[in-house]
Amino acid sequence: MKIFIDTANIDEIKEAFSWGIVDGITTNPSLIKKAIEYYKEKGNDISMEDYIKELLTTAGEGHPVSLEVIGDTEEEMYREGKLLFDKFNGVSKNVVIKIPVNPETSENGTHQFDGLKTIKKLSSEGIPVNCTLIMSPVQALLAAKAGARYVSPFAGRIDDYLRSQNNIPFKKGDYYPADGFIINENILQDHGIISGVHLVKSIVDIFKNYHFKTEVLAASIRNATQVREIAEVGADIATIPFHVLKEMIYHYKTSEGMKKFENDTVEEYREIFK
Ligand code: G3P
Repeated sequence: MKIFIDTANIDEIKEAFSWGIVDGITTNPSLIKKAIEYYKEKGNDISMEDYIKELLTTAGEGHPVSLEVIGDTEEEMYREGKLLFDKFNGVSKNVVIKIPVNPETSENGTHQFDGLKTIKKLSSEGIPVNCTLIMSPVQALLAAKAGARYVSPFAGRIDDYLRSQNNIPFKKGDYYPADGFIINENILQDHGIISGVHLVKSIVDIFKNYHFKTEVLAASIRNATQVREIAEVGADIATIPFHVLKEMIYHYKTSEGMKKFENDTVEEYREIFK
């Protein structure tokens, strides 16, 4: 499974790349907002263009970086997607354009299919698209058919949705069982999907059935256990926040074992390293 880092914070990105485990970066307008606020607080002036170029160079060629459009019509998203690609792909040849599967904010609006139309147009011009805000397997199926290179199911947000729909209190980061949550003998579900991990698995299975080349990029990941479960169901990629990457490396028994090795090191052995 490839690991992407889900942040626009350049310090976190540089640190995680130095560990040798990161294959790409995903950003979105909320993550860019967070990163910009962080730098402004530190008193740093930021040119957005230079900042994006730094993200792309830090990742380097062969490590995709998703940049999201902000429009919600086919015309705007196509223009913005082209603009981002033309302006920035020359830097490290790793730009991927993020397009929402359905940019419409209301239930019966007129732009429901503009995401798919934009994916089709950009993809047919050779621009790789990461289709975002996937909340159901059938949305992923449509995005793959339209030509998306990646689909991003939002595992954590589905878990949040299942809990909030059923008035279950939770904090962001809380574990949600991959096998579902049972209340009064009923399993919580959304159109048959019982957890974020189940959403990812269902998409992996569908793509396997029909040999789609589209990669499943599990997103909105909340904790290290969920990363394991997503790896078990065969996601191609997981995009992981920095704090979850840190959670993945820690184990109490590893630290305890390390202390014991340190304490047991005899002077004769220490001498070798001098
Ligand atoms: O990659 C999508 C991700 O950034 C959304 O995460 O934590 O806002 O649900 P979250």
